[in-house]
Amino acid sequence: MKFLILAAVLVAGAYATLNADEAKLVKGSWDKVKGQEDGILYAIFKENPDIQAKFPAFVGKNLEEIKSNDDFTKHADRIVAAVSKYIELVGNEANTPAIKTLLNELGQTHRSRGATKEQFEKFKSSVAKYLKEHSGAWSDATGAAWNKAFDEMYAIVFSSLDGNPVH
Ligand code: HEM
Repeated sequence: MKFLILAAVLVAGAYATLNADEAKLVKGSWDKVKGQEDGILYAIFKENPDIQAKFPAFVGKNLEEIKSNDDFTKHADRIVAAVSKYIELVGNEANTPAIKTLLNELGQTHRSRGATKEQFEKFKSSVAKYLKEHSGAWSDATGAAWNKAFDEMYAIVFSSLDGNPVH
């Protein structure tokens, strides 16, 4: 019985979607920065050289020299677009199947690239810091809503990264 309750709490916690207020805070702040693709990827690489090193096109290169070349912009656009896709879907229970498909795929592609959970956590910290510094209206509630959005995202990505896509 105890196990069943624990299992129910874990499942509910892992896939709890954001409520309307939280979704509004996340979407509103993301809207302010999502056009700054190069700046976001630059911040991620600058703070995490180990993440930059996993990219075949950028490993061993001087970040200041590559930060606005075509390849960099192309990658930045792709990564930010993937986050945007998730943020568009979040906060609506009806989108759960689409969220699972999107994030299972993200986990699968990154599993083969050797991206680690630790690196995903660092990615999260850099994006949160970027949002805090560039989105304008930041508050504790916005930070908490983003934490929840990332928790929901990573519950699926990490499972898939482990080779167990969420159904
Ligand atoms: C929420 C976090 C992340 C998102 C949304 C994301 C998104 C993406 C997208 C959309 C692509 C290009 C499309 C594709 O080939 O799948 C990509 C490629 C890639 N990502 Fe991520 N990524 C994330 C985190 C990370 C982390 C933490 C690493 C750390 C090593 C990483 C490493 C890579 C690599 C190596 C590529 C391939 C680049 C290439 O094609 O040369 N990503 N990512």
